[in-house]
Amino acid sequence: MNTLDLSQTPIAADGTFEVQLQKSGQILQVTKDQSILKVLQDAGHDVPFSCSEGICGTCLTKVVAGTPDHWDMYLTPEEQEKGDCIMVCCSRSQTARLVLDL
Ligand code: FES
Repeated sequence: MNTLDLSQTPIAADGTFEVQLQKSGQILQVTKDQSILKVLQDAGHDVPFSCSEGICGTCLTKVVAGTPDHWDMYLTPEEQEKGDCIMVCCSRSQTARLVLDL
């Protein structure tokens, strides 16, 4: 399956999804118990963050493909609906893969 397919496929029943980093092509697995931010940090990526609760907007990251599952309180409903950015500290994915502009 290519990137496009996975970014249009609903998330797995166990809540696991993949994050692909656009610039390097690196693919990381995010399990149900992990935040995207934690997975990025564990992989050595220095993503700016502050509150870790979806309030401050510091961790805003652009989404290239896939559909975010927004859990933050920072984006407006219209911005959430647009789906072109995500708060990686708390939000998740509705699709099996999210491609981020990182
Ligand atoms: S770190 Fe504050 S919204 Fe993500």
